[in-house]
Amino acid sequence: MEENKQIVLLRETVSQLDIRCKVISGLVKLMDMTIGKDEFLSRAAKLVGEAVHAEVMIAVIDSRTEQFSFYPVRNEDELSADDTGKREHALKIFRTIEDGSLGHVEDKGFMCFPIGSGVAARGMVVAFNADSSEQFPPHEVKLFNDVAALLEKIMEQAVLLSDMNSSIIKMQKLFDIVKSFSKVTGFQQFIEDSVRAAADIVECEAASVMLLDNEKKVLRFTAVTGDASEKLLGFEFPSSEGIAGWALKTGREAIINEAGESEHFSSRVDEIAGFSTRNLMVATLGGSEQPVGVIETVNKVNGQDFSSQDMLYLSILASQITQVLKQPPRDPAMPETFIDTAAILLDTLEAGYSPHLKHSRNMLSTARELALAMGQDEKTARDISLAALLHDIGKIAVPQAILQKPGPLSDKEWEIMKKHSVTGAAILKKSAGLSALAPYVKYHHEKWDGTGYPEGLKGKDIPLGARIIAVCDAFDAMLCDRNYGRTFTLAAAIEELIINSNKQFDPECVNAAVPIFRKLGEKLL
Ligand SMILES: [Fe+2]
Repeated sequence: MEENKQIVLLRETVSQLDIRCKVISGLVKLMDMTIGKDEFLSRAAKLVGEAVHAEVMIAVIDSRTEQFSFYPVRNEDELSADDTGKREHALKIFRTIEDGSLGHVEDKGFMCFPIGSGVAARGMVVAFNADSSEQFPPHEVKLFNDVAALLEKIMEQAVLLSDMNSSIIKMQKLFDIVKSFSKVTGFQQFIEDSVRAAADIVECEAASVMLLDNEKKVLRFTAVTGDASEKLLGFEFPSSEGIAGWALKTGREAIINEAGESEHFSSRVDEIAGFSTRNLMVATLGGSEQPVGVIETVNKVNGQDFSSQDMLYLSILASQITQVLKQPPRDPAMPETFIDTAAILLDTLEAGYSPHLKHSRNMLSTARELALAMGQDEKTARDISLAALLHDIGKIAVPQAILQKPGPLSDKEWEIMKKHSVTGAAILKKSAGLSALAPYVKYHHEKWDGTGYPEGLKGKDIPLGARIIAVCDAFDAMLCDRNYGRTFTLAAAIEELIINSNKQFDPECVNAAVPIFRKLGEKLL
């Protein structure tokens, strides 16, 4: 009898484990399918519901509107009073979980687990037992807990992935636009293309370029996108008026997310255009010394605020327009504007916006010198130097909070950071003119002794361009106080390279680099 009981218990345990495996592997399989978020969450709720013989709902918060969406998706008019009651009950329970006072809630016929925890919760998984007087058994409660934890991980990745994809797409757009500047033929066309690009990249309702007429002391709308373009094109107003006037006078750029509250805001343009400015960004054209106009983007779409990332894109665009206004580039294969764009962007990623471009410019010149010294021809040396300039481009997809974190990174943050070399290569691969540089960028964190990433390549399996970038980057980082926590003297930086020769760095590379760095070093400091 005792033995029979044990067998029954064993069978139960095996069957519970079987259900558990089915649910978890089912969710993992769903992740691999190319289905949208709605479909994924609807199917996930169904899968878990079948496993626990209960009605399961997944509810997810929209981070922008803070509204809940329920899965499986159902039409509002299909909902019975019972369904609505269940949803309301779940929401009420969720509020108590969100307060942080409870991890989860189980009751007779009901359980609710948050996806994420406390105020960072992204939603919840809820189950209603058909027999509302029955408590869910402990193994089902445990399964539910694990499902919520897995959904949290999946959602985190999805957010990261969509952020990453959107940064990459914007970056590519910016590169394409800047490259097209080298083919500028007509001034008006160029200005119009620029405002369209600004509106497209920062996602706003309207963008405009206003140029200064120095004789009349007015700013004139020279190109405008959006519904009000016809009304505004050619419109002039005093060059000291409004936020545009302020930017022109001070040479500053700004994000103004509550336009009406700014002391510089003038509503005159809105009145003429029949427009309502909620928020805007502004940057000067022509540089702060001799400004010739301003570029403005108005009303970020979907009621959002403009972000510092948006400002970065507008600044880069403004500085490129300035370059073209001053002097059209002559070398279409490697236009100066393109290099500046990349240099500004990459220095910004490292240290917040700064116009001196020191790090990226250093990388460009030292990598070229070193490639030539190692016997590479002019074309290859130029490719390697351009790759050196762009080597950290993948950091565009790393969240700012990680990039600029003052203390050491957690394991999870470090894993995200390490993806930048592969992401950078992916960005370059998509550009016809830059795809050859992708391997140099992908492997710039490999080490000579095979202990680097992403693939742990060793010795000469690492492309020469990547070995050159590794040496130049480390040298420059030591001199510029990046990553090493202190600034090295020129002699100490060279000494450090020699110590790590044959371990981190290619010894031939270090040998060739030392005399170059001695020569260039004083200039770089
Ligand atoms: Fe890097």
